[in-house]
Amino acid sequence: MEYRTLGGTGTVVSTLCLGTMTFGNESTEEVSHAQLDRFVEAGGNFLDTANVYSRGVSEEIVGRWLAARPGMRDQVVVATKGRFPMGDGKNDLGLSRVNLTRALDASLRRLGVEAVDLYQAHAFDALTPLEETLRFFDDAVRAGKIRYAGVSNFLGWQLQKAALLTDFLRLTPIVTLQPQYNLLVRDIEFELVDVCRNENIGILPWSPLGGGWLTGKYSRDTLPTGATRLGEDPERGMERYAQRNAEERTWRVVDAVRTVAEQRGASMAQVALAWLNDRPAVTSVILGARTVAQLDDNLAAAGLHLTEKETELLTDASAPIVADYPYGTGGRNQRSRTI
Ligand SMILES: NC(=O)c1ccc[n+]([C@@H]2O[C@H](COP(=O)([O-])OP(=O)(O)OC[C@H]3O[C@@H](n4cnc5c(N)ncnc54)[C@H](OP(=O)(O)O)[C@@H]3O)[C@@H](O)[C@H]2O)c1
Repeated sequence: MEYRTLGGTGTVVSTLCLGTMTFGNESTEEVSHAQLDRFVEAGGNFLDTANVYSRGVSEEIVGRWLAARPGMRDQVVVATKGRFPMGDGKNDLGLSRVNLTRALDASLRRLGVEAVDLYQAHAFDALTPLEETLRFFDDAVRAGKIRYAGVSNFLGWQLQKAALLTDFLRLTPIVTLQPQYNLLVRDIEFELVDVCRNENIGILPWSPLGGGWLTGKYSRDTLPTGATRLGEDPERGMERYAQRNAEERTWRVVDAVRTVAEQRGASMAQVALAWLNDRPAVTSVILGARTVAQLDDNLAAAGLHLTEKETELLTDASAPIVADYPYGTGGRNQRSRTI
């Protein structure tokens, strides 16, 4: 396992983080606990959950695992999130002080901990002024309920505004961004990566395997079926992943990952994870797994670094389709300047 500091903080985390979205859902409690044990054995020390994962059950599963292993709480860095609805009330969602106060307390209870190390706004909330959320984070740090604050699924301007507000108002900084980022979805490179580099914010990519596409288990001519997220899950809104079958770019990327994997004698999942982990500003890639065998495969990406040539092959094959302006060459040329 390799380690990095969490964004601009002094806290050390493994470069692979264990995501827990499958816990209490695709993965039973027994399998979830086996994944957690395996992850820690492999040197992992960073866990990511959220109140909405299996509507609280994922946090409870992590909480029971921590409780049954004395001393474990201090060995792992625990991240969770609040924002999405946990009830039917008008204030059971969002980034308001009212909702986040209740959501954080409920997360602490389910996890059975006094504090979480990283508390993340799960997504932007257009109804709540950012300053209200940032002051909530600052108060929660002072109250000893969270150590650091982070955000997820923000746009460039939202993250930059949050960073400036915390500076000007002298509030606890935003130390991490958790965005969707993988070889099939690289849109954060348009603005968010620059914000993160300038503001010393660590990137924690989610869906690093594109929900399974990048493992190579699906083929061009057949739609995903069976006991896989892409095959079985239309009701959970995952059908948008399955539509990738129709996009030629998907197959160009999958073929490139397969080529590098064959050259390296590594699995395709390991190659996709290694590419992502060495992208600028990335702190730790959040793994998702249904089974311990999948997790084992993914954990073997720890310490795998691609050569410049291999990286270039994947980066070129997965280049996002961009118009000339403002993110393409025309826009870039207009903004650049040399003496
Ligand atoms: N902040 C957010 O909004 C957000 C959103 C999504 C996720 N997340 C976080 O990110 C974590 C990871 O996201 P993700 O689950 O979407 O990641 P992912 O790596 O893109 O997809 C994981 C899924 O791919 C399949 N898979 C994984 N490894 C495999 C392997 N080696 N071989 C074959 N199939 C494999 C499994 O599904 P099947 O077996 O069903 O095919 C697994 O559940 C989550 O647990 C969560 O903590 C955050």
